[in-house]
Amino acid sequence: MKVAYQDLSRWNKQELADIEAVISRVLRRGRFILGEELSAFEKEFAAYTGKEYAVGVGSGTDAITLALIASGIIPGDEVITSSLTAYPTITGIERAGGVPVVIDCEGDTGLIDPAKIVAAVTERTKAIVPVHLWGNACEMDKIQVIARQNGLVLIEDCAQAVGAEYFGEKAGYWSDCAAYSFYPSKNLGALGDGGAIATNSIEMFQKVKQLRNYGQKEREINAIPGINSRLDEIQAAVLRIKLQYLSEKLEKRKIVAERYTRGLPNEILISLTQNSKSGYHVFPVIINERNGLKEYLGSKGVDVLVHYPEAVYAQPGFQGRKYGTCENAEYIAARELSLPINEFMQEEEQEFVISLLKGWLKP
Ligand SMILES: Cc1ncc(COP(=O)(O)O)c(C=O)c1O
Repeated sequence: MKVAYQDLSRWNKQELADIEAVISRVLRRGRFILGEELSAFEKEFAAYTGKEYAVGVGSGTDAITLALIASGIIPGDEVITSSLTAYPTITGIERAGGVPVVIDCEGDTGLIDPAKIVAAVTERTKAIVPVHLWGNACEMDKIQVIARQNGLVLIEDCAQAVGAEYFGEKAGYWSDCAAYSFYPSKNLGALGDGGAIATNSIEMFQKVKQLRNYGQKEREINAIPGINSRLDEIQAAVLRIKLQYLSEKLEKRKIVAERYTRGLPNEILISLTQNSKSGYHVFPVIINERNGLKEYLGSKGVDVLVHYPEAVYAQPGFQGRKYGTCENAEYIAARELSLPINEFMQEEEQEFVISLLKGWLKP
């Protein structure tokens, strides 16, 4: 049996028809940038997140960058984030002029450790960027207190967090600004690159709107230095449809995740933070002989991924600083394996994955 990690050519037929219809609508209208689809999506996405405002941008990486610039970061300011994250978290910080300071994650959850944030704060610290890795929510109440006590900007990296909740609130609720990615494989994915910020601050909202469009305040008035990072009309129109199907898809992912949780030995599972719900963007397991298992599953037709093979500071391009030892991040990075999870996964496909994995684990 062949089990795909995620096959983006598989569609819910009705959703596909709806998407084809809106693309046609945009084509016939002939407006492709900063039009009515984007304005409508921004309102609908803000409502989804529970924040007052949303701004569509070109990618999740840009969302992090623009949120930091709009927060007033200046070159050399330190930004604390997790050493276990997707590299674009670091790219987003660096492009804003920030110096990423990466700290260890917690050993059981793989998420940023609030106690270590406190230890890493210096006079140069400007912001904290917690990452809801794998769709699992960080301890945002604790992190929010640390940000407030130290006068720091709090930007949540919600690139993987659509569907995640903490104390009944959606991920993104706890910060000054949340940054989202609509990369096609994300829980809310576009048909290409895309991203957004969501915020309750009108200043942040207005600033990011200017920043994404060459710093323009109004047509041909370039008030501040900006970039070109606009979510285009076709992507916005597609995302409006995708939003309508989102809760159904999240529910299906949850069913798949719960089957894994029931079927697999507890020792290989990652813990969630207390009072949180995962969006199950990724289903990670922790395996000592990870590479061997990856090869074995591949040989049986099961696609698996690794999120991520190394702590971010081990990447050759890393220009930031590592704070203290990051043993938990290194431990998890050496052992994490992401099992196939998607809304189309059939029970028999999953039984196949579970039985292979259990068979491999047996001595
Ligand atoms: C945690 C995290 N942050 C940021 C990003 C960047 O998003 P994008 O690829 O849309 O730029 C990603 C994308 O994979 C991510 O997983």
